[in-house]
Amino acid sequence: MPERRVVIVGGGLVGSLAACYFAKRGWAVDLFEKRPDIRRPEHSSLAEHRSINLAISERGLSALRRLDPALEARVKELVIPMHGRMIHALNGQQSSQRYDVFGKHINSVGRATLIRLLLDEAAGYPGVTLHFCHEFLHADFDAGQAVFGDLARAGERVAVDADLIVGADGAFSRVRQRMLSKGTMNYSQTYIEHGYCEFSMAPRHGDFALDPNHLHIWPRGTFMLIALPNPDRTFTCTLFMPWTQFHALGADGDIVPFFRAHFPDALRLMGEDKVRAEYAAHPKGSLMYVKCSPHTYTNRAVLLGDAAHAMVPFYGQGMNCGFEDVESLDRIMTRILREAGKADNRTAALTGEQLRRALDEYSATRSVDTSAIVDLALENYVEMRAKVVDYAYLARKHLEGLLHRLFPRQVIPLYTMVSFTSIPYAQVIRKWNRQTLWLHRSIKTTAIAAAVGGAMLLMRLLGWPVQPLRSLARMAAGQA
Ligand SMILES: Cc1cc2nc3c(=O)[nH]c(=O)nc-3n(C[C@H](O)[C@H](O)[C@H](O)COP(=O)(O)OP(=O)(O)OC[C@H]3O[C@@H](n4cnc5c(N)ncnc54)[C@H](O)[C@@H]3O)c2cc1C
Ligand SMILES: *[C@@H]1O[C@H](CO)[C@@H](O)[C@H](O)[C@H]1NC(C)=O
Ligand SMILES: *[C@@H]1O[C@H](CO)[C@@H](O)[C@H](O)[C@H]1NC(C)=O
Repeated sequence: MPERRVVIVGGGLVGSLAACYFAKRGWAVDLFEKRPDIRRPEHSSLAEHRSINLAISERGLSALRRLDPALEARVKELVIPMHGRMIHALNGQQSSQRYDVFGKHINSVGRATLIRLLLDEAAGYPGVTLHFCHEFLHADFDAGQAVFGDLARAGERVAVDADLIVGADGAFSRVRQRMLSKGTMNYSQTYIEHGYCEFSMAPRHGDFALDPNHLHIWPRGTFMLIALPNPDRTFTCTLFMPWTQFHALGADGDIVPFFRAHFPDALRLMGEDKVRAEYAAHPKGSLMYVKCSPHTYTNRAVLLGDAAHAMVPFYGQGMNCGFEDVESLDRIMTRILREAGKADNRTAALTGEQLRRALDEYSATRSVDTSAIVDLALENYVEMRAKVVDYAYLARKHLEGLLHRLFPRQVIPLYTMVSFTSIPYAQVIRKWNRQTLWLHRSIKTTAIAAAVGGAMLLMRLLGWPVQPLRSLARMAAGQA
């Protein structure tokens, strides 16, 4: 069998997982990453260019498990479980909102730790070559060639042949740019009016300053502070806020009065001097989302992870969705191989025509689902910064939790479907809409029944005939 070669652009979370999958399926893999190798101590700080930690949940874990259950087990040893949200009121009062009635939880994990682990894992497969300090410049997809600049050699050009080019080069993907220039792709990129800044919260008396098994939120309506635990007993806190408010504070304005007014308990734990210094030193990140369709170009190129679907971080699904991309592509490729009568899972043996079918199917199904989670992530910002303290929201949440306990398959809360199942995202939205409709109807019927029941009781007491109301009640029940 001739060697099948895949070039993966980007050695972030998704690119390094994709390298493992392709190698396991018999492909020769060349992974190109523009940054130096963050596994080397002298480059370790480069890893922290973005959020320091993130939440991994079922979809991400499922992709690790399919590759190798031992890998999932190793990742699980590195995480801190978060069982719910801890809501911090202005007066310092904390209240816990569990994520799931059956105790399912999400997990905080260090970004750099996870990338290092996945790069090590990829390097362990025969057939994988990692090229650091190589920046993707352009590609001729039809000819199967990608060109990189070797940053360690003054940008010297390196041309590489590939049967398949994987763009895992993040939200500002240059591979995507090249695909766009083919003129066959729908594409949109949107910046939201909010930005973020990270802070740290040191341990207190050698222990976590807050309950480590929660994702802490200080919801303040139009903005919020959140905190996720790290294994070194610190918390990473992130302030999300409209740019207008960042600007109102001024370029070198004092953030401390703002914290004192809105997050006094957090400020006490973080320390005024540290908050001031970190606000001045840390970059302010922008928040954007990307949708594109298709995710593929013929049988020559595919976008995975943020390159295909950058999203705002409010559902904790960006990486999870990217990992699920990799699993989903692998499922389709192995199925098509099986249908062609080969049972060994070595997708490197797919013919060009079969690969084309696999990529077409992947894009057709996946682009609908990634578009759905991009929307859900956007909506969840409002939930986190405002709705978590809203009574109607909390009432529905409780009712749904109860119904989920009674009918675990029929009624599933939205957060549970997204974070604790692998139900395709688009299907999640459909199921959620059906449930909402059904809930509203049931509530209406219950209210009508209660009103009618009350009226009947009153009429009995007064000795009036109740027959007409009975039929009204039957009609209301029938309508629901
Ligand atoms: C504040 C914040 C919080 C988040 N929290 C969560 C969370 O809790 N849970 C979650 O699942 N997700 C979260 N995310 C999203 C998550 O970070 C991304 O979805 C994830 O990093 C995507 O991985 P990726 O490998 O696709 O892209 P990236 O992580 O962006 O990696 C892309 C890689 O490609 C390299 N690269 C770029 N251009 C080139 C080039 N031209 N040539 C060669 N290499 C190149 C980059 O150096 C980088 O290493 C969060 C994001 C942010 C910003
Ligand atoms: C692009 O968008 C248009 C309009 O929404 C749609 O009709 C078309 O099918 C889309 N094309 C792809 C490739 O998704
Ligand atoms: C093919 O992959 C599936 C899913 O990972 C696995 O259950 C099966 O055992 C694999 N078959 C072979 C021959 O490796």
